[in-house]
Amino acid sequence: MDLSTNIAGVQLSTCLMNASGARCVSQDELERLGGSLAGAIVTKSMTPQSRAGNPEPRYVGFEGGSINSMGLPNLGYAAYAKMIPGLRQFGKPIVASIAGFQMDDFVEIAKAINEVKPDLLEVNLSCPNIPGKPQIGYDVEASERLLNKIRNVVSIPMGVKLPPYFDPAHHEMLAGVLDRVKVSFITVINSVGNALVIDPDKESVVIKPKGGFGGLGGRIIKPVALANVRAFWKLLGDHIPIIGTGGVETGRDVFEHVLCGASAVQIGTALVEEDISVFERLERELKQWLQQRGYSSIMACRGKLKEL
Ligand code: DHB
Repeated sequence: MDLSTNIAGVQLSTCLMNASGARCVSQDELERLGGSLAGAIVTKSMTPQSRAGNPEPRYVGFEGGSINSMGLPNLGYAAYAKMIPGLRQFGKPIVASIAGFQMDDFVEIAKAINEVKPDLLEVNLSCPNIPGKPQIGYDVEASERLLNKIRNVVSIPMGVKLPPYFDPAHHEMLAGVLDRVKVSFITVINSVGNALVIDPDKESVVIKPKGGFGGLGGRIIKPVALANVRAFWKLLGDHIPIIGTGGVETGRDVFEHVLCGASAVQIGTALVEEDISVFERLERELKQWLQQRGYSSIMACRGKLKEL
């Protein structure tokens, strides 16, 4: 069974990888991903300086998903720039995720990270958890300006991690930006931002930052994720590859993302909850699912969702 795929000219031996944020902050975590069955190593979104992140509790898993407001805890881009050459020993593509608080941050990080040549750059336009900082991805003009600036300073393929959109008009506006900027891939979706999970017994929120508001992940966001993968697939066709993420817990969920148009799939909540053995289980389940349905490769079913 062929689970290999290609994102912007970068070959992946398997289409599964971690979502940025999930078990990918420290060198130890990144090396564990290197030694796992993940097809690529994706870093935590890096900022100019190292950050401790928001106060705890800041991640809570619950039946059906997770809520987080981590607040970008990371080692700062200089530490990841140092680490990336060593991560090559695992022989799989490295995806550097970058974030920032203003345009110049992104440009500074992109320049420095481009020097150490990760295989792909994932520009995160969709962190929902910094108090007072709206997600850039919800401002179409600002997104286009920022992406053009970053594009000018990098030579490696540049992709964009987008927040979920809930209206076709927004998908169309963003698709225009992605086409004009000529991004090399997109990753959809980031967590469903500013959700609220509460504990009625304790009459309390469950995470501390932002009064309990945080980004939703896991099984309950899968329909939103699939809708965004599908909407962008219909608008972009196969000239901008899509990495699907959101609600992948089983091999069947991977298949669903690919049917909607994803060329690869990232695992967030399930990786946090189950640890890196999740890749082995998902690979087994996916192979079995494809085999039962008569497919010999994952790419054979990409985008093939039937409509009624
Ligand atoms: C964080 C959460 C996100 O969804 C994201 O895209 C980046 C950072 C965080 O809170 O650390």
